[in-house]
Amino acid sequence: MDRIRIVGGRRLNGTIPISGAKNATLPLMIASLLTDQTLILDNVPRLADVALLERILGNHGVDIMVSGKRAGETADHGQTLHISAANIVDTTAPYNLVSRMRASFWVLAPLVARMGEARVSLPGGCAIGTRPVDLLIMAMERLGAQIDVDAGYVVARAPHGLKGAEIVFPKVTVGGTHTAIMAASIADGTTVIDNAAREPEIADVADCLNKMGARIAGAGTSRIVIEGVAKLGAARHAVLPDRIETGTYAMAVAMAGGDILLQNARPELLQAALDVLQRTGVTVTPTNQGIRIARNGNALNPVEVTTAPFPAFPTDLQAQLMALMTRANGTSHIVETVFENRFMHVQELVRLGARIQLTGERATIEGVERLKGAPVMATDLRASVSLVIAALAAEGETIVNRVYHLDRGFERLEDKLGRCGAAVERLSG
Ligand code: EPZ
Repeated sequence: MDRIRIVGGRRLNGTIPISGAKNATLPLMIASLLTDQTLILDNVPRLADVALLERILGNHGVDIMVSGKRAGETADHGQTLHISAANIVDTTAPYNLVSRMRASFWVLAPLVARMGEARVSLPGGCAIGTRPVDLLIMAMERLGAQIDVDAGYVVARAPHGLKGAEIVFPKVTVGGTHTAIMAASIADGTTVIDNAAREPEIADVADCLNKMGARIAGAGTSRIVIEGVAKLGAARHAVLPDRIETGTYAMAVAMAGGDILLQNARPELLQAALDVLQRTGVTVTPTNQGIRIARNGNALNPVEVTTAPFPAFPTDLQAQLMALMTRANGTSHIVETVFENRFMHVQELVRLGARIQLTGERATIEGVERLKGAPVMATDLRASVSLVIAALAAEGETIVNRVYHLDRGFERLEDKLGRCGAAVERLSG
């Protein structure tokens, strides 16, 4: 079981290349099931979740070829996947795979839309909450699928294809919006999605589907209209930069102090988070190469933040902001409104000397003068990186255990931080 060892106190200076977005790559790969033509994806990050989804799609009969190295290419370049779902040979997504990566449940939509049937394991809970899929099932039923739940599997049937419909989500759901768009893209007729998620990854996937021949309007707004088409074809699409990785490294340099260029980052993908960072006293400067983040000696101001769906402050940056606020000059409050149990990092941060009180969905963080390194445990993807951020400013050595959580969503983290001056190394075994 790999661990990461960090010795705090080093400032960060230099450039960090931002990889393609994990949360766009996963639905884009799943969208390949909608067509028998080849989908080529560029700027794909090398992540454990991507490798696992390749296995899951392979189980359905999908062929995936990874382009080899090209002249002048470095490890900072994303990989190119050639994905062909010409022959889907199995419409079951088994528990042992779906339970390891929840987003794989989303294969339900393209499988039932294209094949007329799907048998997908319920994903089960995860560390940050129960994470039901009732709204994804509601959307599929609205489009005409018959759904049964049997022995832990969702069994969906649409032998005569799906029919366009009006889908109103009672709460914003990213997965629900992705699955509704994918299924509706080859349904018969028009679908209108109200209260759709507005995350940039939704627009990125819709942009790719439109390149494949879909007719989707309004992606990125809360009302999306899809004119179903008979078939989708081949396309080539580059994954947009990862806004959560961007925000994470921005908070890392805010914590450690220094001056970093986040290369290829796009400010409009995380403006709410950048506004909060400016309120803490960090300098945020968009450039034509990305976003420059600097803090040189000035204290961190405390902030009041509530997480909410895009374009508000994202839940996926909540743990990282909390780590940063442990060293603020005063008391901060963070309210988590998206998931019911996304404070698993609090006890671990307290082990490093942080002062945090929880009252329901509200965390009160009293800034402290110093953090002290200690062994800590990663519990979920974003919580694990909040421990790395805290360790960068902690005195002495911190060992982050269960670092496989990190590898799910952050490509070569120790390399990207190490090249900018952090004392960080991976301990294998
Ligand atoms: C996506 O998860 C992301 N995952 C999550 O990122 C992210 O935290 C989340 O959206 C919110 O932005 C991917 O994109 C692969 P939701 P998703 O459906 O789609 C409730 C990461 O760290 N809900 O928007 O599963 C749900 O319980 C991950 O990269 C229902 O009640 O999230 C939650 O409280 C973590 N019924 C809220 O809605 C449903 O049918 C938002 O969930 C579906 C969701």
